Amino acid sequence: VQTFFTPKLLAGKKIMITAGSTMEMLDPVRGITNLSSGKMGFALAQMAMRMGAETTLVYGHTHAPRPLVSHAHFAATADDMYHTVMQHIAAQDVFFGVAAVADYKPNMRSSQKIKKSEDILTIDLIKNKDILADVASLPNPPYCVGFAAETEQVIEYAKQKRLAKRLPMIVANQVMTAMGNDNNQVTIIDSKGEHTLDTDLKTNIAFKLLTHLKTQLD
Ligand code: CTP
Ligand code: CA
Repeated sequence: VQTFFTPKLLAGKKIMITAGSTMEMLDPVRGITNLSSGKMGFALAQMAMRMGAETTLVYGHTHAPRPLVSHAHFAATADDMYHTVMQHIAAQDVFFGVAAVADYKPNMRSSQKIKKSEDILTIDLIKNKDILADVASLPNPPYCVGFAAETEQVIEYAKQKRLAKRLPMIVANQVMTAMGNDNNQVTIIDSKGEHTLDTDLKTNIAFKLLTHLKTQLD
């Protein structure tokens, strides 16, 4: 879809993207995380740059090569990511939540390595704050786009999330297909309905999503 010259459709826009996964530490060497390559969020950030947007990337753990963006901030945990996002959100026109944010964190973090003893170790988990939902409910929110990671009832669950988090747009994505892959297959859901894109490279999906986004901003 992209040609040699990418039109600067997003010139003058400020876009923030979260990507990768957060890790909720139990002790200095162990944590709870989600599997996420970070590739979709990074592809979006790279394409947003190519399309002329001032791009801020808030990224968690990933092994993917990080694109060159206007501003990049590492956030290790869901709490770190929440604070980093909130610190820079006021200036943004658009917010893309692509990160696999851990839904829960251990209720305590040991400062020393936990030693093994009992056969069964019980860990209590506390729910993390929802970054995307809280950004979307700011008094003057940026245009918010969520990524719904689902293993079943993909479209239905994504639609429910769009309404629950009050998002103008959500991208539904079957995680088993997307995970770690260079390709992805997504459905865009907004107030006008749903639109399924052909399976394509994450880079091309990023271009299509940002081109669609542009039509919503005007
Ligand atoms: N998200 C977020 N902060 C969280 C959890 C999720 O910003 N604490 C964002 C993700 O980045 C994604 C969207 O919310 O854009 C949907 O994430 P997903 O895990 O699919 O949905 P949840 O609302 O967490 O619901 P569940 O995991 O129960 O399906
Ligand atoms: Ca979740």
